[in-house]
Amino acid sequence: MKVKTFYTCAECSYQTPKWIGRCPECEAWNSFELAKEETNQKIKGISVQSVALAQAEDGEVRIKTGIEEFNRVVGGGVVKGELILLSGEPGIGKSTLTLQLCAAIGQKSLQMLYVSGEESHLQVALRAKRLGINEQNLQFIGENNLENIMASIEEQKPDAVIIDSIQVMSSQAIPSTAGSIQQVRYCTENFMNYAKQHAVPIIIIGHVTKEGSLAGPKVLEHLVDCVLFLEGDRYQNYRLLRSMKNRFGPTNEVGVFEMEEEGLKEVKNASELFLEGRKTDSYGSAITTTIEGTRPFLLEVQALTSTSSFGYPKRAGTGFDIQRLQLLAAVIQKYLKINLSNQDIYVNVVGGFKLNEPAADLAVAVAIISSYLKKSLASNTVFLGEMGLSGELRSITDVKRRIQEAKKIGFKKVILPYTKQKLEDDEIEIIKVKDLEEVMKYQKLFEHSA
Ligand code: TYD
Ligand code: MG
Repeated sequence: MKVKTFYTCAECSYQTPKWIGRCPECEAWNSFELAKEETNQKIKGISVQSVALAQAEDGEVRIKTGIEEFNRVVGGGVVKGELILLSGEPGIGKSTLTLQLCAAIGQKSLQMLYVSGEESHLQVALRAKRLGINEQNLQFIGENNLENIMASIEEQKPDAVIIDSIQVMSSQAIPSTAGSIQQVRYCTENFMNYAKQHAVPIIIIGHVTKEGSLAGPKVLEHLVDCVLFLEGDRYQNYRLLRSMKNRFGPTNEVGVFEMEEEGLKEVKNASELFLEGRKTDSYGSAITTTIEGTRPFLLEVQALTSTSSFGYPKRAGTGFDIQRLQLLAAVIQKYLKINLSNQDIYVNVVGGFKLNEPAADLAVAVAIISSYLKKSLASNTVFLGEMGLSGELRSITDVKRRIQEAKKIGFKKVILPYTKQKLEDDEIEIIKVKDLEEVMKYQKLFEHSA
């Protein structure tokens, strides 16, 4: 029998044949320890029960929670035996959402187990009370030791489990501290095995760092079946739930929630809500339709121009890319002969949203122009289009669905890039334009002039 020796990093289990001072994987210092592995061992297998694939039926396989927005994002309900990672920044509402999920599932007389290593029984009980949750089927354990948790799960045999959060869980089998890559991976693997063997769905919560990466670089994403991401601005009420990876469903769905006193509320009429409180005749405000997942949303873009007090004009964007803003400003300056070189420009997407798609270019551009000219835009109009470097408008995706959404909310006109597509509609006027200059010819756009 041969014995192979190597060194392994205590933090992330990176292996190397020679000792090194710093781990190239996780950058920890002095973390390598000598390890031995016996090779040429005879490996004995155990027989494993096989099952016919056809036995599984969809109705039996998925647990539909009482939260529709959540069901849609995961693909119609939680699959039995599925391991879901719910990630998001601290304080965004992950514990709140999962507690509400517990209640929603618990109402179906399924036994839920909520494991928190972050909050005490009292804290969670208080929150549950505030959320109006009083589920007999909901059990709680405050624990962060993996072995104890697994023992409780084996004993209680719940129908679904929540782990809050994976970063505070640790196993005695692993020498490194909770939150280390090794711990996170080991604990997740244990939960994974249990989920698969007992056909019990487990949702594990994972915090993301400020830079947006999951602690344990991507390790978790590979292990789990589904990665959900809860996002939003902490100071705004809206929360979007996206699936970033999904073995059992779509990856482009988004669920919309609103954080209220009584927890997260599902939002069905998202567009109406996003436009709430809009002043229809203010300068620098334009409406566009963006597509999130498969859903179109109407959003308001605001722009403010003001004469720079210093030599170098400032450009700032909230929810909109600053590079893109600079580019749009340059195009406006060059092709409309509007002098923005001594103007500070601020752009804000209302509601804490991020407008990442080029289709929003036109709305941002006309909002800037509107603010500069001190003329408000026609409030019944939606602006769509990607802007090219010579001021031309480029076609965008999903035009029909965007128009439908605008119509549904009661808008009367849509200005969009020229296309051969037949888009005419009795209820909403479709105006196809080639470039920014042509947009400006629609003087009616600025109906309330100052
Ligand atoms: P939480 O679920 O604890 O976030 P996470 O688990 O992602 O860290 O939610 C934290 C915030 O949500 C907290 O700042 C308070 C707010 N909140 C409400 O506004 N309403 C509620 O009903 C609850 C439970 C929380
Ligand atoms: Mg929490």
